[in-house]
Amino acid sequence: MNDVTVVGAGPIGLAIAWRCAARGMTVEVADDGLPGAWHAAAGMLGPVSESYFGEGALTALLVESARRWPGFAAELGAEEIGYRASGTLVVALTGDDLAEVERLRVYQESLGLPITPQRPGELRDREPLLSPRVRGGAYAPDDHQVDPRRLVPALRGAATSAGAAIVREPRPARITVVAAGTGSAAVAGVPVRPVKGQILRLRAPGHQPPGFSHVIRGYADGRHAYLVPRLDGEVVVGATVEERTDAHVTAGGVSELLRAAADLVPEINEYELVEAIAGHRPGTPDNAPLIGAVGEGVIVATGHYRHGIVLTPVTADLVADLVETGVPDPMLGPFAPGRFA
Ligand code: GLY
Repeated sequence: MNDVTVVGAGPIGLAIAWRCAARGMTVEVADDGLPGAWHAAAGMLGPVSESYFGEGALTALLVESARRWPGFAAELGAEEIGYRASGTLVVALTGDDLAEVERLRVYQESLGLPITPQRPGELRDREPLLSPRVRGGAYAPDDHQVDPRRLVPALRGAATSAGAAIVREPRPARITVVAAGTGSAAVAGVPVRPVKGQILRLRAPGHQPPGFSHVIRGYADGRHAYLVPRLDGEVVVGATVEERTDAHVTAGGVSELLRAAADLVPEINEYELVEAIAGHRPGTPDNAPLIGAVGEGVIVATGHYRHGIVLTPVTADLVADLVETGVPDPMLGPFAPGRFA
């Protein structure tokens, strides 16, 4: 019998397995071999620019997890996982977009989060490739990025080096941790639903690093898109948010994303389009994760919705604590899985 079986081999499940194994527990991870939401994810670590009205508890958890990210990345090898601390520019194309950005920025600033307004010239000084049409925006220096497709193999290595086994059919365990993303609804009966996101991968000519280095979170004439530049020349452009269960890439989805992205950074029209895929975020009724016990010997760590990558370190640490002590950290109070009962 294992001490812990983790159901789900995405970043959250692997990081939990790693942390538990490192504490001396016998751990198996059940891996169905299918790529989860992480395979589509851009890997923005945006606790500030992803803080929205009415989500104060979630924001606090995002900020706490982001605080743990530099150490977490260093343990895995920051370069190996594509961790890049280059900051995020929030960019508005029109006057209406700027009004939307400003409303949110004032709220984010009122929480004490690091975000400063930017005039068009200041934005273009930071990123000369931004369209001359941009009307203004904001700079969030602490919002970073990581490459989920590098993160997951690194976490597999870290978990197995610590003694965890990744298997198809795990043995029974004293504690089962369900970290199965959208599959958690079927496994643990929790209210998680798939929220489709279409996302594109472009490549700068000659595999050169793209001509911009900040993550760009754009508001483009009422459309939203983000651009995440990687050192290897990749630019991830995302993402649609659709209440749909199919995984089709649609002409409309691709054209909306490309239009918004090229309105903000016209040069991307010259980039190669190398991939268009759709994934499903595990959404919950209040957009916040479900982390805690759901029954005797069963813990869930799921429903991370748009924030799975940024919330990986704090989720792993707090779930490992819970497995070890049986007592949930007070930080987990707002995320109790039974809160919708
Ligand atoms: N975290 C960004 C997204 O879900 O699209």
